[in-house]
Amino acid sequence: MIKPYAGFISGKVADKFDWTERLFSLRIRGMFSPYIAGQFVKLALYDEQGELIRRAYSIVNHPNDFEQTNELEFLIIADATGQLSPRLQQLQIGDDILISDTAAGFMTLDEIPHAASELWLLSTGTAIGPYLAMLDQPEISQRFEKIILVNATRTQAEQSYPEKIQEFKAKFGARFTYVPVISRESVRGALSGRIPLLLESGSLFQAAGCQPDSSSCFFYLCGNPAMVKESSESLNKLGFTKHLRRKPGQFSSENYW
Ligand SMILES: Cc1cc2nc3c(=O)[nH]c(=O)nc-3n(C[C@H](O)[C@H](O)[C@H](O)COP(=O)(O)OP(=O)(O)OC[C@H]3O[C@@H](n4cnc5c(N)ncnc54)[C@H](O)[C@@H]3O)c2cc1C
Ligand SMILES: NC(=O)c1ccc[n+]([C@@H]2O[C@H](COP(=O)([O-])OP(=O)(O)OC[C@H]3O[C@@H](n4cnc5c(N)ncnc54)[C@H](OP(=O)(O)O)[C@@H]3O)[C@@H](O)[C@H]2O)c1
Repeated sequence: MIKPYAGFISGKVADKFDWTERLFSLRIRGMFSPYIAGQFVKLALYDEQGELIRRAYSIVNHPNDFEQTNELEFLIIADATGQLSPRLQQLQIGDDILISDTAAGFMTLDEIPHAASELWLLSTGTAIGPYLAMLDQPEISQRFEKIILVNATRTQAEQSYPEKIQEFKAKFGARFTYVPVISRESVRGALSGRIPLLLESGSLFQAAGCQPDSSSCFFYLCGNPAMVKESSESLNKLGFTKHLRRKPGQFSSENYW
């Protein structure tokens, strides 16, 4: 049994899948609180000094899957120099962990202006995770005429959840486009480079087969804060503005650190 901590609920590792030596998915079972697709919780473990180390992780599975399984799924990259992620990587099925008792975050479908009919989901690395949960939201089909999912990774091996992406292709048909971006290998069928320059050069729009129009498009940016900052600048240059509740615009973001 893991020592309880105020604001946290205990869970058990139910499954673990390694995508690469550093990238893995964890499923954790427990009596957690309801959440909205796109939100995150804090995962926490005690260190050798008995101090609780806690960090935010986005939930990959849709609330409907959670209702059936009592499991939350996470996509995590272990940073060897980090305090928590290497410990999470060492967890085995049956091990205990603490999870914050409420989910948080505003990168959800409810926050997108109603006029938007073309949704661009741009991510680096593990930040594809919250989009996978959002793409399982039942009403997404009715809401958007076009959905473009972009995941930028260093290598092909870090392009996670290919089966889930195939599922979305089958479910949404021509309305869904997946654009992989791979920066440190040359891979046929993937764009190379980084998202901000691919936005400015038009290559991303060409790969997706559509040119966004400010009256109907909406972009979410998630992951590496430098990508979020530079992509926001690129979108500004292209005539799009940051979305605020008091002043609607075309993009919004979530930084991972
Ligand atoms: C809202 C939110 C959601 C998040 N969701 C996820 C998630 O789903 N999966 C996930 O792996 N991480 C996620 N993170 C990052 C996570 O919270 C931790 O910061 C990360 O696991 C590193 O923790 P650490 O204690 O091992 O390293 P630390 O000692 O805290 O930091 C090590 C360094 O690693 C870098 N870094 C941190 N996170 C990442 C990352 N995800 N990818 C690339 N570099 C990173 C930063 O440069 C950081 O300074 C999220 C963060 C936020 C704020
Ligand atoms: N993935 C690995 O093999 C590896 C190895 C050692 C350490 N790490 C550590 O593990 C953590 C996670 O790594 P990660 O590979 O998932 O995340 P990452 O470093 O954010 O890289 C993911 C993708 O984002 C791109 N990117 C980086 N900076 C960008 C910017 N300013 N604008 C636009 N795109 C940008 C990267 O391109 P570029 O390739 O051009 O940077 C890459 O395609 C990091 O803390 C990293 O230091 C990872």
